[in-house]
Amino acid sequence: MPKKLIIDCDPGIDDAVALCLALFDPRLEILAVTAVEGNVSAAQASVNVQAVIDFLDPPRSPRLGAATPCDAPPTADMRRLHGDNGLGNLDLPLAQLHHQHPAEKIICDEVRAAPEQVTILCLGPLTNLARAFQRDPSLPLMLDHVIISGGSLRCIGNVTPAAEFNMYCDPQAARAVFRSAATRTLIPLDVGEQVKLTLDIIEQLPADTTRAGRLLRHLIPFAFRAYRQHMGLENIFLQDVVALTAALHPELFETEEMAGDVETVGELTKGATIFDRRRQPLGRSNMAVAVEADAVAVTDSILRGIAEAGRAT
Ligand code: BDR
Ligand code: CA
Repeated sequence: MPKKLIIDCDPGIDDAVALCLALFDPRLEILAVTAVEGNVSAAQASVNVQAVIDFLDPPRSPRLGAATPCDAPPTADMRRLHGDNGLGNLDLPLAQLHHQHPAEKIICDEVRAAPEQVTILCLGPLTNLARAFQRDPSLPLMLDHVIISGGSLRCIGNVTPAAEFNMYCDPQAARAVFRSAATRTLIPLDVGEQVKLTLDIIEQLPADTTRAGRLLRHLIPFAFRAYRQHMGLENIFLQDVVALTAALHPELFETEEMAGDVETVGELTKGATIFDRRRQPLGRSNMAVAVEADAVAVTDSILRGIAEAGRAT
C-alpha cells in the first residue's frame, strides 16, 4: 500500500525537485501539498506549489493548502540561491490561482480522515505544522510520522553561523513541533550535505520533451550556477530531496535518538537546534536524528526518481 504523505514546502528549487519526484512515485500517495512562507513570501509559495503541480500534471491531484504569512516574517533572504521567484526565475504558466484553504486546515482535515496513517514531510519552516497542532491539540498523536528537513546536528548553520534556514525562519514554530508528542525524524543540514550532487547529473536529466525534463533542466542548472557564484562550489545540495529520500528509504540513514530543542531568542544563536548529547542527558529523547547518510545510495535513489518522473511525463 502506498505511503500516505502530505508535503509541506516553500518552493524553493530543492522543494520543487522533491515535488517533481514525489508526485510520480508509485510508493507514495500524495494527499496534499501545502505551502509555507520561507524561501519566498506566503503568496509566492502558494503560487509556486500550484504552478509546479499544474505544470507537471500528475495522475492524481493532491489537495492544495495556501500559505499565510508567518507572525514574525523571516528576515533571511534566499533569493540568491533560488532566484527571485523561488523557481530559478522560471515563469511557469498559472491559468488561475484555485481557491485554496489555509495550509493548517488541510493538514488537520487530511490527518483526521486517516488517523495514524499519514506522514507529513516538512520541507520548509514549521509554521503550518505548529499552527495545525494549535488548531487541533490531538493531531500530534494522530500522525503516523513527521519528517523534518532542516536543523543542524553539529550546529553549523547556513543562514547564520549557528542556524539552518528552516529553523531560523520560525524558531517558535520549530520549538512547538519539537516539543509536541508527534513521532519525528530530523534530517539535518549537515547530513543532507553529505549528498553532494555533481555536474554530471545534468546529463542524466530527462529530455526536455518531457514536462519533468523541462522543469528540472531549468531548476538544476540554475542551482549549479548559483552555488558556484555565491558559494564557490562546483556541486549542489538538494536538502529537501534528501529528506524525501528518507521518507522512501529510511534504511539509507543512520539515526540516533536524541533530546532536541530549538533556540528561539539568542542574539547569535536564534534558530540553532540544540541536542543534549551529554552522557546523562536531562531530557528524554524526543526524535530520531539522522547522523549519517549512505550518500551513494541516496544519490542513486534520487536519480531513479528523476528518471521515473521523466518517463511519466
Ligand atoms: C533548507 O532551506 C531552504 O532554502 C531549502 O529549501 C531547504 O529546505 C536548507 O537549509
Ligand atoms: Ca525548503
